[in-house]
Amino acid sequence: MDGNLSPNDISHVVDADRANVWHHLIQHKPFETGEPRIIIEGRGMRVWDQKGKEHIDAVSGGVWTVNVGYGRERIANAVRDQLIQLPYFAGAAGSVPGALFAEKLIEKMPGLSRVYYTNSGSEANEKAFKMVRQIAHKRHGGRKHKILYRDRDYHGTTISCLSAGGQDERNAQYGPFTPGFVRVPHCLEYRKHEQDGAPVENYGEWAADQIEEVILREGPDTVGALCLEPVTAGGGVIVPPEGYWQRVQEICRKYDILLHIDEVVCGVGRTGTWFGYQHYGIEPDFVTMAKGVASGYAAIACCVTSERVFEMFKDDASDPMNYFRDISTFGGCTAGPAAAMENMAIIEEEGLLENTVQMGDYMLDQLHALADKHAVIGDVRGKGLFLGAELVSDRDSREPVDEKLAAQVVAECNAQGVIIGVTNRSVPGRNNTLCYSPALIATRDDIDQIIAATDTALTRVFG
Ligand SMILES: Cc1ncc(COP(=O)(O)O)c(C=O)c1O
Repeated sequence: MDGNLSPNDISHVVDADRANVWHHLIQHKPFETGEPRIIIEGRGMRVWDQKGKEHIDAVSGGVWTVNVGYGRERIANAVRDQLIQLPYFAGAAGSVPGALFAEKLIEKMPGLSRVYYTNSGSEANEKAFKMVRQIAHKRHGGRKHKILYRDRDYHGTTISCLSAGGQDERNAQYGPFTPGFVRVPHCLEYRKHEQDGAPVENYGEWAADQIEEVILREGPDTVGALCLEPVTAGGGVIVPPEGYWQRVQEICRKYDILLHIDEVVCGVGRTGTWFGYQHYGIEPDFVTMAKGVASGYAAIACCVTSERVFEMFKDDASDPMNYFRDISTFGGCTAGPAAAMENMAIIEEEGLLENTVQMGDYMLDQLHALADKHAVIGDVRGKGLFLGAELVSDRDSREPVDEKLAAQVVAECNAQGVIIGVTNRSVPGRNNTLCYSPALIATRDDIDQIIAATDTALTRVFG
């Protein structure tokens, strides 16, 4: 991009946006006097706004999405070619890219075998919830219908996804919620002092045992599934502690509870493995994914299941109700799997999983070095290129900083041309974690620039 945008055209775009667009997750009153941000163009790790200002994007399109970076012509070409050949047919029929991407995806997911296409992460999670409910009706007289979800996790924007949402500020004012969703405690070790009975040692096992307590309280014969993020994203970048996942898997097996892993953020490379759950050797029954599947070049989401789950929906063809009676209209778009095939090929050919591990370790080290310098950083955590820094006003009490100050750090980075994130209207009083998720192509230079901007921003805000 050369920065030579036509000022007339752009002012018209800004006016049209201000007059007619309702943006996501942002207050609009300030736009009555100021301008909404409009991103015009992207290349690699960088984007340009309506003023021609260059930014390094440390959040992959704002919400952990553009994993392979901007400007990938081969994805655009594949989508274009596919659209000309066949843009759409409803998912009761197959498509060439749908079949080929499913095959490629399943190669990366040993133990799983079926891909159900949808168009958003929320919708993919809804599919898993519906499957759990239908299994409860088919197999357990409707009893085993409850779905457990974790404090601080997020699974999407629909009313049922919010019913499975552990972020009370996201949920507030949208109730009443769908019945049958039950919350289990979070597993953020840094905040264990806020959890009654949390031990000094073996916190991971204890946190998993809290799930068992909820199951016993509810009655194991009423609980059908447990839905968890592998690494919690918007709830504060929470990497589950040592010992947690193994216990979770044991508990699910013990009580015949299906394990649903929400990989909408972690899926397709973000943490340095194809999927976040693969760090922990666990065997899920459902895996949902969206954002990074095609890096935002086309809308695509998937609900992937084991063959065991799939079999439960085809065991009696003489029963007209005995199949998954669901449709996702845009799950039949072919642009999604066409883009996803190229996206996956890019990750493989450019060694981006390896880069994610190496650059993620480097960035984690750099964030720790920042913590040595700025007492306001209470905790640094993450996996791969999915990192967070929790800001506190006091390291001993771990009192969170005023969230306005955390937001100011983001604004100060932005002023330096670096877009970072912060947990946003998520957990009450806990919107204090800076979030980083640069594209998987990030280099040391990119990371140095992001860290330097954060360093300056922290000094400007906290001294
Ligand atoms: C973990 C997780 N699950 C589900 C979703 C919902 O995805 P979508 O916005 O595509 O519906 C999100 C979105 O941020 C998410 O972070």
